[in-house]
This record gives sequence, structure tokens and C-alpha cells, in this order.
Amino acid sequence: MNAKRVFPIFIFILAMMTASTGFGDECMDCHNDPGFKVQHPKLFNYFTEFDASVHGVAGLSCVDCHGGDEKTRDLDKAHVDVLKPVKFDQIPVTCGQCHVEQRDAFVTSDHYRILEKDGTAPNCATCHGAMEMDFIFVTRVKATCVFCHNEESGVLPEVPGKADLVLNKINIIKGYRSFVNTHGKDRDLAAELNESYDKLTANWHNFDLANVEAQTNELLGEYRKAKSQALKDRKK
Ligand code: HEC
Ligand code: HEC
Ligand code: HEC
Ligand code: HEC
Ligand code: HEC
Repeated sequence: MNAKRVFPIFIFILAMMTASTGFGDECMDCHNDPGFKVQHPKLFNYFTEFDASVHGVAGLSCVDCHGGDEKTRDLDKAHVDVLKPVKFDQIPVTCGQCHVEQRDAFVTSDHYRILEKDGTAPNCATCHGAMEMDFIFVTRVKATCVFCHNEESGVLPEVPGKADLVLNKINIIKGYRSFVNTHGKDRDLAAELNESYDKLTANWHNFDLANVEAQTNELLGEYRKAKSQALKDRKK
């Protein structure tokens, strides 16, 4: 079983345990307080964004990324070092606690080296957002690349075009993938392709674009066939 898929279950069990032993999660309770909406509207908006995000839905809490003490209502005690884990150079470590494959690929990239040195490369939150975490938007990712990779800066200006091409193919794969997962009769094939897909989106994070493009083309071909078969399966 993929480690990534284990987490929701793990978190669910954790949530059940805390619920049954009576420990509340004061971070969530206080930041979700309707009074908070009036006193700290900006912070309340952070909460709403988080709550609707993939992480909110998966049952994460503030403490999973920010640390602090979730068992107290005392502000000073609750907030010890809550900004430290979300400082730009700490973000890969913080997110990497759960997204291990992505982190492992990312820490081998030039981007990570530069991020550690002077902070002028993208971190996980630059592309994925932080609190409002959601699926990737191709246009947003490309705009992120253009910010640094352009003719004026002279830093590999060909990168955004290449990344755009690969990302659009990954997007097509996503469509095929959901079709194959829903309608494909060959469950082993679907599972195998899902594994390749997870590998591809993890590998993307070392930013070896030529390699990622080759992998993307191969997987797209395999999904195209699987989708065509699933279409026939559905008509039977
Ligand atoms: C009793 C209410 C309460 C609890 C419990 C609470 N917070 Fe807060 N939080 C606040 C308020 C109010 C602020 C606004 C800043 C301030 O007054 O310290 C805030 C601010 C923050 C900020 C922004 C800090 C900054 O300096 O910009 C973060 C991050 C945060 N909280 C995370 C957490 C986490 C994580 C927990 C649990 C470990 C938590 N909070 C528990 C009320 C709470
Ligand atoms: C999935 C990880 C994650 C979770 C869960 C999370 N945050 Fe954050 N949060 C971040 C990251 C990363 C940043 C830094 C954003 C950036 O650098 O763009 C951040 C920034 C913030 C800030 C702005 C701090 C500042 O002044 O720079 C506040 C306030 C905050 N979070 C509060 C919360 C609260 C309250 C919760 C729970 C309801 C929460 N966060 C849950 C990852 C998370
Ligand atoms: C405590 C564990 C945990 C931490 C820390 C965490 N995540 Fe997640 N993340 C999850 C879970 C659980 C999901 C739900 C989807 C899944 O099963 O992968 C998820 C989903 C995602 C997704 C959508 C993936 C998909 O398959 O659709 C992205 C992107 C993501 N996280 C990025 C981040 C980033 C960036 C950070 C740091 C700011 C972060 N995560 C921190 C557990 C975590
Ligand atoms: C420069 C942009 C960028 C950075 C930096 C980045 N990612 Fe990604 N991430 C992407 C893209 C693009 C994809 C794959 C395409 C897609 O899912 O649409 C992706 C995929 C993912 C996925 C899987 C989503 C899925 O479709 O299953 C997770 C989880 C994730 N990233 C977490 C992270 C973490 C953790 C970090 C930091 C260690 C990080 N990312 C850094 C752009 C980025
Ligand atoms: C905040 C600035 C910044 C952003 C944003 C950024 N990069 Fe980079 N990137 C750099 C720097 C700096 C280098 C190193 C250039 C060099 O070595 O000459 C680099 C190098 C690269 C390389 C070459 C890596 C290697 O190992 O040869 C690739 C590929 C790359 N970036 C892809 C991307 C993609 C794709 C995006 C958007 C999703 C992106 N970058 C966003 C700053 C950035």
C-alpha cells in the first residue's frame, strides 16, 4: 500500500482517539470560533480556506504543519514557534513529513539547493499554495515558473514552455486516469497505472524535465490504450 494513501486512515484513527479521550483540538476550536470572525477577520479567512482545502477535508489540523500546543487555550503556550515550520526553507521538511516521495525527489533538485542558500527558488507552497491547498492549476504553475525563468532574467527562459507542455499532458493523463479507475474492468492494470502515475508526479519534483517528459509520454500512451479498453468494457 502506498504510504500516501495510509495517512487519511491514520488521521481518522487519531481523530477518533482524541475524540474518545476527550482531548479537544483547541487550535481548530478557537480559530473556528464565530467571535473570531469579527475580532480577526483575516485570520478567520485563513481558517475557512484551510477548512475547504484537501487537507481540511482529509482531517488535518493546524498543529500538523504549524506545531504548537493544541491542548491549551492559553495563547502564548498554544503559539510557541507556530511560524517556524512554515518559514520558506522549512516548508519542504514540514510538508515532507507526509509527502515523503515528493520531498525525496525535491531535495535532489537545484531548486532545493538554491532555496537553502538564499531562498530564491520555489518551495512546495509557491506552487501548491499553503492553507488553501488544492489541486494543481497548470496556468498557475506556469506563471510561477515565468516569474524566475524569463528572457529578462536569463535564467533558463525555455523552462516555462517545456513545463507547460508536460503539465498539459499530465492533465490529460488525469482525465484518462479517472475514467480508467471508474470504468476499467482490468483492476490490476488500473492499480499498476496508478502506481506509475504516483511515481511520475513524485519524480516531477526533481525538475529533471527531459526525464519527466519521457516518463509522461510513456504513461500517456499506456493510459490512452487503457482508456480505449475501458470504453469498450463500459459498452459491453
Ligand atoms: C484561544 C484561541 C486560540 C487558540 C487555542 C489558538 N490560536 Fe492561533 N491565534 C489566535 C489569535 C487570537 C491569533 C492572532 C494573533 C494573536 O493575538 O496572537 C492567532 C494567531 C495564529 C497564527 C498567526 C501567528 C502570527 O504571528 O502571525 C497562527 C499560525 C496560529 N494562530 C496557529 C495556531 C495553532 C497551530 C494553534 C494550536 C496549536 C493555535 N493557533 C491555537 C487564537 C488562538
Ligand atoms: C498543510 C499545512 C498547513 C496546515 C494544516 C495549516 N497551515 Fe497555516 N500555513 C502553512 C504554510 C506553509 C504557511 C506559510 C505560507 C507561505 O509562506 O506562503 C502558513 C501560514 C499561515 C498563517 C500566516 C502566517 C504569517 O503571518 O505568515 C496563518 C495565520 C496560519 N497559517 C494559520 C493556520 C491555522 C489557524 C491553521 C488551522 C486552521 C493552519 N494554519 C493550518 C501551512 C499549513
Ligand atoms: C500530516 C500530514 C500532511 C502534511 C504535513 C501535509 N499534507 Fe498534503 N496531504 C495529506 C493528506 C492526508 C492528503 C489527502 C490526499 C491524499 O490521500 O494524498 C494531502 C493532499 C495533498 C495534495 C493533493 C494531493 C492529491 O493527491 O490530490 C497536495 C498537493 C498536498 N497535500 C501538498 C502538501 C503541501 C505543499 C504541504 C505542506 C505545506 C502538505 N501537503 C502537508 C497529508 C499531509
Ligand atoms: C515548481 C512547482 C512545484 C513545487 C516547488 C512543488 N510541487 Fe508538488 N506538484 C507540482 C506539479 C506540477 C505536480 C504534478 C502535476 C499535477 O498533479 O497536476 C505536483 C504534484 C504533487 C503531489 C501529488 C498530486 C497528485 O496529483 O497526486 C503532491 C502530494 C505534491 N506535489 C507535494 C509537494 C511537496 C510536498 C512539495 C515540496 C517538497 C512540492 N510538491 C513542491 C508542482 C510543484
Ligand atoms: C523563485 C525562482 C524560481 C522559480 C519560481 C522557478 N525556478 Fe526553476 N530555477 C531557478 C534557479 C535560480 C535555477 C538555477 C538556474 C541555473 O542553474 O542556472 C533553476 C533551475 C531550474 C531547472 C534546471 C534544473 C537542473 O537541475 O538543471 C529547471 C528544469 C527548472 N528550474 C524548472 C522550473 C519549473 C518547471 C518551474 C515552475 C514550475 C520553476 N523552475 C520555477 C529559480 C526558479
